[in-house]
Amino acid sequence: MAIQKVGVVGCGLMGSGIVQVCAQAGYDVTVREIDDAALAKGLGRIDKFLQGGVDKGKMTAEQKAAVLGKIKGTTKLADLGGCDLVIEAAVENIAAKHEVFAALDAACGPETIYASNTSSLSITEMAAKTKRPARVVGLHFFNPVPLMQLVEVVRTPMTDAAVLAEVDAFAQKLPKTVVSAQDTPGFVVNRLLVPYILDAIRVYEQGLASKEDIDNGMKLGCGHPMGPLTLLDFVGLDTTLYIAEIMFDEFKEPRFAPPPLLKRMVLAGWHGRKSGRGFYDWSSGQPR
Ligand code: 3HC
Repeated sequence: MAIQKVGVVGCGLMGSGIVQVCAQAGYDVTVREIDDAALAKGLGRIDKFLQGGVDKGKMTAEQKAAVLGKIKGTTKLADLGGCDLVIEAAVENIAAKHEVFAALDAACGPETIYASNTSSLSITEMAAKTKRPARVVGLHFFNPVPLMQLVEVVRTPMTDAAVLAEVDAFAQKLPKTVVSAQDTPGFVVNRLLVPYILDAIRVYEQGLASKEDIDNGMKLGCGHPMGPLTLLDFVGLDTTLYIAEIMFDEFKEPRFAPPPLLKRMVLAGWHGRKSGRGFYDWSSGQPR
């Protein structure tokens, strides 16, 4: 069975990017948000990104309209019933994810594949509670989804090999490069990225270098597109703390332990670019 119709649960930052790349690859996409306001916000984000592409001369207005024409919004999970693949990109909370998959089990046929875009929660735990554990995978996209070329395809001990092959083929059609990962906290990329970002915070916390020098060191010395503290503001301090806590809880290794400064900044509401302040001041839209 080739995947043709795609459902996406959640139209936030990641969900809207996933909807966009699927529609751009020619899939019919139905996206579900909890209410009309959240849906309008997510669809507006897609429109804005595509318009940016038109303005940059990367696509025509007609191509933009064709992509938008592939996307249908809904507030009902039952409307994802006819999908071949449903990608869950809802809030990072295991109870909420179980609820979504239970509702999907009532709406979808037995062949529908479920994927979660979680960055840190266990795919095995989600799969085990569904009626189709062999047809559940992780599909971990990177932010900003339309620009980042990678997706991690995550397998559990229960995943059917044919399902993995179908999901790999789907991801390559987006087109994304696939990294295959096992279901362990952080998969491959966050297993490497999170301790690196936490170490950058520790270097700053210990007064070893200024934040600008830490960022310039990795940008100009190692060719990274962003330094680790700018990237942290971009990913979100709250998100990074959440992932680090899950990884530390599982591995009990000091390198995954969130530094006290990160915890304090999150408590202060300094969540990074989205809140206007993190390691940098983002009130003007650019880091200062
Ligand atoms: N439509 C079409 N193309 C667009 C576009 C749009 N609306 N906006 C930008 N682009 C294109 C540009 O034209 C450019 O293309 P070109 O290379 O052919 O000229 C390219 O995208 C890059 O755009 P910009 O030049 O405007 O932006 P930058 O060069 O500043 O790059 C960035 C922006 C891609 C975000 C870069 O800074 C980057 O790669 N940062 C690191 C991001 C990262 O690491 N993300 C992963 C985070 S971790 C994660 O998500 C996992 C989670 O679990 C935590």
